[in-house]
Amino acid sequence: MDILHYQTEFLSYLESKKWVKEPKNLYEPIDYILQLGGKRIRPVLTLMAADIFSGDTKQSLPAALAIEVFHNFTLVHDDIMDDAPLRRGKKTVHEKWDINTGILSGDAMLILAYQYFENYEPSVFQKLAQLFSKTALEVCDGQQLDVDFETRNDVTIAEYIEMIRLKTSVLVAAALKMGAIVAKTNEENANLIYDFGLNLGLAFQLQDDYLDTFGDPKTFGKQIGGDIIENKKTFLYLKSLEIANNLDKSRLLEFYKEKLRDNTVKIEEVTHIFKKIEIPELIKKEIKFYTEKAFKTLDQMSINQNSKDDLKNFGVWLMNRSV
Ligand code: IPE
Ligand code: IPE
Ligand code: MG
Ligand code: MG
Ligand code: MG
Repeated sequence: MDILHYQTEFLSYLESKKWVKEPKNLYEPIDYILQLGGKRIRPVLTLMAADIFSGDTKQSLPAALAIEVFHNFTLVHDDIMDDAPLRRGKKTVHEKWDINTGILSGDAMLILAYQYFENYEPSVFQKLAQLFSKTALEVCDGQQLDVDFETRNDVTIAEYIEMIRLKTSVLVAAALKMGAIVAKTNEENANLIYDFGLNLGLAFQLQDDYLDTFGDPKTFGKQIGGDIIENKKTFLYLKSLEIANNLDKSRLLEFYKEKLRDNTVKIEEVTHIFKKIEIPELIKKEIKFYTEKAFKTLDQMSINQNSKDDLKNFGVWLMNRSV
């Protein structure tokens, strides 16, 4: 089944939910962010996994919704932490309302996400809640590391990979595993699809970092250069420090020492250095490496070839995205 099919099924379920009630200032931002669009990657993965392991997607819809609401909660809080003005081509929640609104609406979304698991019988509920709690804490760990790295100048690429595993990959992996749990497949399959998601998630966050600097501002939907402004220790930056000549290296270190009021020159110069030393090509190689690592996990799985192809196509689609 293709990605669009799962997206459509998820969207009609999402649209059947009414978010807005009193107090409006708490629930309108929730409705706003959830209706703003997005690729719906994680719920698609939940539906896809449930379909692969049981031939049924309907029963996985509440879990898929839990994952998407949680993801959107992380975006609302992430945009506060990253001081981001734009999300999906529109104002971020804290810009449209204010920071306190972003904090509380985000908190409410986290709780709403948990509530969707109440749709499941106790044994499934327990497994989903257990995985969800573990994953949500890991995302917090990753987000804190991401912030800590902004003011450190000795971050290694290995530390960066561990940070993105925590802030991004575990949720992609959990989305798939939840589909497997709802479908009541065996432990081995559930763990293998989780591993597939972990590597796919690493490729996905590397691509996100690439697009943050090199994406098309007309379609990307987020502020281009946001990571440079915030001194994020992304693969682009860390790899540059490894291979740049001494002059460029010291300029990068200088630029990333503090946050500036006007970032025009900083973004221009840093992007220029990245390009000059062919960082775009290097990160693309890295993205391909983790995508192929994910594909290798598929070989070990006892599912039919069609299902493997669907998961593979998803990975290829993800790797070539521009949004
Ligand atoms: C953005 O996730 C946050 C990251 C983990 C990179 P997505 O790129 O999935 O965002 P939407 O939901 O499609 O907008
Ligand atoms: C996001 O990382 C990770 C989470 C939201 C947990 P980013 O900060 O790179 O995500 P974007 O680029 O703002 O979407
Ligand atoms: Mg961000
Ligand atoms: Mg962030
Ligand atoms: Mg990003």
